[in-house]
Amino acid sequence: MIPPTQPAGGAANLRLYRDAEDLARAAAEELQLRARQGIESRGWFSVALSGGSTPKRLFRVLADRPFRDALPWERIHVFWGDERTVPPDHPDSNYGSAHEALLSQVAIPAANVHRVEGERDPEDAAARYEQLLRRQFEVASDRLPQFDLIFLGLGTDGHTASLFPGSEALHERQRLVVAPWIEKLDTYRVTLTPPVINHAACILFLVSGQDKAEVLERIFEHPDERPALPAQTIRPTAGEMLWLVDEPAGRSLMRGGDADLV
Ligand code: 6PG
Repeated sequence: MIPPTQPAGGAANLRLYRDAEDLARAAAEELQLRARQGIESRGWFSVALSGGSTPKRLFRVLADRPFRDALPWERIHVFWGDERTVPPDHPDSNYGSAHEALLSQVAIPAANVHRVEGERDPEDAAARYEQLLRRQFEVASDRLPQFDLIFLGLGTDGHTASLFPGSEALHERQRLVVAPWIEKLDTYRVTLTPPVINHAACILFLVSGQDKAEVLERIFEHPDERPALPAQTIRPTAGEMLWLVDEPAGRSLMRGGDADLV
C-alpha cells in the first residue's frame, strides 16, 4: 500500500513503478478508468496531454492492444496542457508527437482533437485556445472548464506544463491560457494557467528517469521551500492529484520512506 504523500498543495498519492514501461501502462490504465467514469457521468471525457519525452511511451501503450481497441475514442476529447510555438508538423510540437505516436493510430474523430495552434502568433494562439476551451466546456467568462484528467510532466527545474520558475504565468488568476516568454528557452510557449490545471477532476504527474530524482525529492521532502517550484504550486481545488513515478525518478523517496513500489 502506498502511503498518501502530502507535498505542498494538498493531498497526493504517490505511486512508484519498477520502470518506465510499468509506469506508462499504469498511466494508460488510469486514463481508461477515468474515461469510463467521465463518459458514464457526462457522456464524454476530456484529457489534456503533456508534452516532452515522458508521455511518448504512454502514447505507444495507448496505441497498442488492449487500449487501442478498448477505449471509447469517439467519446474522448484530447487537449494539451501546453504547446510549443511551432507548426504542428515541427519535431518539437507536442501535438505532432501525440499525433504521430497515438492519434493517427486510433479511431479518434478529428473533431475530438483540440490542438493549440502553435504556428500562430503566441498571444493569438493563446486567445484562440481559450475560446476553444470555453466553447467545448460551455463555460462563460466567470467560470473555469473542468478537465476530467490533466497529465503533467516535470522538468528538472521544477517546471510543469509551460509554467517555468519566475514566470508571470504562475500568478495568472483570470485567464485560462497564456503565452509567456521563456527566457531560458529563448522562446514563447502557450500554456494552461494554474487555476485551470488546479480545477481538474484529476491532475496526474507522470515522472520518469533518474534526472528527475533530485527535483522530485525537493518537491516531496521540502514542500515549504520558497520560492515554491512551479510544480509545487499545483494544488487540486476540485479533485485529486496523483504522482505516477518510476523507480529511477523516485529512488530518493523510497529511501526517505515516502513510498514503496506498486
Ligand atoms: C513540454 C512539457 C513540459 C514537460 C517537462 C518534462 O512541452 O515540454 O509539457 O512541461 O512535461 O519539460 O519533459 P520530459 O518528459 O521531456 O522530461
